[in-house]
Amino acid sequence: MSAGLVIAVDGPAASGKGTIAAGLGAHYRLPVLDTGLLYRAVGVLMRRLDEDLDDAGLAGAAAARLTADQLRDPALRTRAAGELASRVAVHAKVRGALLDFQHAFAGQASGAVLDGRDIGTVIVPDAAAKLYVTATPEVRAKRRWTQLIAQGEAVTYDDVLADIRTRDARDGGRDTAPMRPADDAVLLDTTEMTIEQAADAARRIVEAARARWITTS
Ligand code: C5P
Repeated sequence: MSAGLVIAVDGPAASGKGTIAAGLGAHYRLPVLDTGLLYRAVGVLMRRLDEDLDDAGLAGAAAARLTADQLRDPALRTRAAGELASRVAVHAKVRGALLDFQHAFAGQASGAVLDGRDIGTVIVPDAAAKLYVTATPEVRAKRRWTQLIAQGEAVTYDDVLADIRTRDARDGGRDTAPMRPADDAVLLDTTEMTIEQAADAARRIVEAARARWITTS
């Protein structure tokens, strides 16, 4: 794995992990990968080709064809893309096909920040710092709803809350589901926090982990 600092930021939809990951990347000058975009891109690609999202073989093939360029597509940021992503993410073939991309990103000499669901457990189990970011479903729905409205989507808060609950069940509901904190992750509940407070708390967690990592590596 990388000789640089690798930070894993996991957590449920709209927990604030993306903002926290971006802040940590800027602070430590590390490249950041939002791994949700990979799953979103697979779902969007399949939908454009009118393929069956429940077909594990087709979904795995779509994941294997994915290129970094496709991650810049603004369509990946929509509510619909989030729903498509969580449907294709249940296939082991999809998760397997996306492993190399994530390992290569995490293995960069500079180090890296990756945010997702299974970064600390599966993708980079030896990451120097692991955070698991949470907030109540209501607070997460409010944040995601505000974001979607700002992007121009016509959606109600209740619909977004229903999405969040469905996604939580799909992402964390089964034994094989990706969403669970690593045993050595530090939990960060951002329910009562502003963005700045959450970013500060995340930096403190990483600083403590980094001090341990520097002395042991
Ligand atoms: O984080 P984001 O909302 O973009 O993720 C979209 C969906 O992609 C999640 O609901 C989850 O089903 C899936 N995902 C995943 N593993 C990751 C990142 C995202 O299964 N590392």
